[in-house]
Amino acid sequence: MSCSQSSGLEDTIRIDGASTPTSHTRWFVTGRNRRAWLAYFADVESWNRRRHQTGYVTELDTIITSDVTVAAMKIREGELVAFPTETVYGLGANAFDESAVRKIFAAKERPSDNPLIVHIGEEADISRVAQEISDVARALVKDFFPGPLTLLLRRSPRLPEIVTAGSDLVGIRMPRNEVAIELIQEAGMPIAAPSANRSGRPSPTTWEAAHTDLRGRVACVLASRPCQIGIESTVVDVSGDEPVIVRPGAVTLEMIVESAGSGRMASRGEAEGKSPGTRHRHYAPRATVRLADSPDELVAVGPRAAWIGTDECPSQAFDLVRVVPDLESYAHNLFHFFRLCDERAITEIWCQTVPRTELGIAIMDRLLRASEASGDLG
Ligand code: TXA
Ligand code: MG
Repeated sequence: MSCSQSSGLEDTIRIDGASTPTSHTRWFVTGRNRRAWLAYFADVESWNRRRHQTGYVTELDTIITSDVTVAAMKIREGELVAFPTETVYGLGANAFDESAVRKIFAAKERPSDNPLIVHIGEEADISRVAQEISDVARALVKDFFPGPLTLLLRRSPRLPEIVTAGSDLVGIRMPRNEVAIELIQEAGMPIAAPSANRSGRPSPTTWEAAHTDLRGRVACVLASRPCQIGIESTVVDVSGDEPVIVRPGAVTLEMIVESAGSGRMASRGEAEGKSPGTRHRHYAPRATVRLADSPDELVAVGPRAAWIGTDECPSQAFDLVRVVPDLESYAHNLFHFFRLCDERAITEIWCQTVPRTELGIAIMDRLLRASEASGDLG
């Protein structure tokens, strides 16, 4: 492995070459975190060797950088960038560039009927992508933008149809992660972005997880801290008089009702009608996910099993255990734990259920979907 200075890009790693199984990989390391990056390289290089052995061929060199200017340039060039938000990492493209948005569906292998959320950098951007904003929507914008809330509003005809998968409604969210906001503002345009995982996999809550799923498929990974919340935004249809939650998240039903004066959860069928993403297989680790109300209910725990929950459990039964002190920590750890289990070849993940109130509604939604999708990945 050889390291050399690159041309003035602070904290930028460029992973070069490796476009064919026989080409060499060159590393360019600069910036404040040189030591950490070098440790990371040891991993990447061993991965790279394995990749060469299996003859896997990448189509793109993926730049990993913590420099927002580099990532914003890629967005302006019509390329894809995986970037941090406070919920999960997103996979972004210029929302007004149809061919750039098309690349998102290809990179993720995402069904084309599943619309993308448009991420904005300031409230004034709402009128660039939506037509009208109701009083109810205005109240929610005031209380929760920026934050983990996506509003479904009438789409502006200026927005390419591919973004909303042909729907009249567009999902709009202003993240509160400062790196995300900087990226959107520096790119100078709204960014269409789903979660930065391959379709069906758990959403990535670290840049490493986004890189694992998308390396070779995206131009750039904007590396930053792990996501604070760990599960995706609350999606609320505000096209009618009453806000309807079609995907629960950290902005809870109670918070919506307090802000807008009314609100309700969509039934499962209604959510699937309004929000195509909820119809698709989701959040699934390779292991089988099983649910238990308490450790006393554990039956027939298989070999290579894991446990995540708020209660201590008989640790000798499990190869991997994560006890979380509260619901925030459960949400923060869940997808990361799923991915860790896959890395450790766990075959059965036991997840403790939580009461279906406040953030517990979103956690139970993800647990149920993960357990339903189990065994379905092939
Ligand atoms: O926290 C989040 O929402 C993350 C970060 C990156 O912002 N994004 C995310 O995107 O989770 P995605 O594509 O993985 O999930 C978005 C969900 C899907 O279920 C999708 O169907 C729904 O929101 N959605 C997006 N736009 C919609 C629209 N116009 N109408 C109905 N549902 C929509
Ligand atoms: Mg997703």
